[in-house]
Amino acid sequence: MRIVAIDGPAAAGKGTLARRLAAELGLPYLDTGLLYRAVGRRVLDAGGDPADPAVAEDAARSLAAADLARPDLRTPETAAASSVVAAIPGVRAALLDFQRRFGAAGGAVLDGRDIGTVIFPDAPAKLFVTASPAARARRRWLELSAGGATLDLGAVKQDMAARDARDASRDAAPMRPAADAVVIDTTDLDADAVFALALQAVRARLG
Ligand code: DC
Repeated sequence: MRIVAIDGPAAAGKGTLARRLAAELGLPYLDTGLLYRAVGRRVLDAGGDPADPAVAEDAARSLAAADLARPDLRTPETAAASSVVAAIPGVRAALLDFQRRFGAAGGAVLDGRDIGTVIFPDAPAKLFVTASPAARARRRWLELSAGGATLDLGAVKQDMAARDARDASRDAAPMRPAADAVVIDTTDLDADAVFALALQAVRARLG
């Protein structure tokens, strides 16, 4: 089973790393955060409350490919809603099969919060990618600013801390490193250094 599971908090560098690993290894890549973002977005668009299990579960069950291609999945508002819907067990259950089927076909690189602990607990290669809260907030602020948003760095840091706390403290599949995950702290590393470290760890695990 050529599954590479990459977990960790927001803006730690998971996405960039996952994309590069997938290209290097010739595997498809799934950003599982997009699934939760799309569910949160659907609830907001319908004027619903992301914390309402019935509404959020309905949105998760009726998710379509077009929902994942929307241009507004990266906004702070969508990010906050995604973290709220992600704490609802029925939402997670509705998205489970899709993630497992994606990887089961011929292997894959998946990134998220619970890939190595819940979605693919038997994955041979698991990474937990993290960085200091200050470094992550700065990266996300730069990313959002480059996209044209005018945001205060302090507000980005606060939003991220709230999301981290919710993602790590929920009962359903909380964010945490799997016992057999290789932890990579990217605070003082550039993307090339992270990639080199990760590729070495993944190759050792995949054989
Ligand atoms: O990776 P991201 O920042 O795009 O994820 C958005 C939210 O979705 C995140 O705050 C928590 C949730 N999420 C999750 O609970 N489990 C995953 N496997 C991926 C994301």
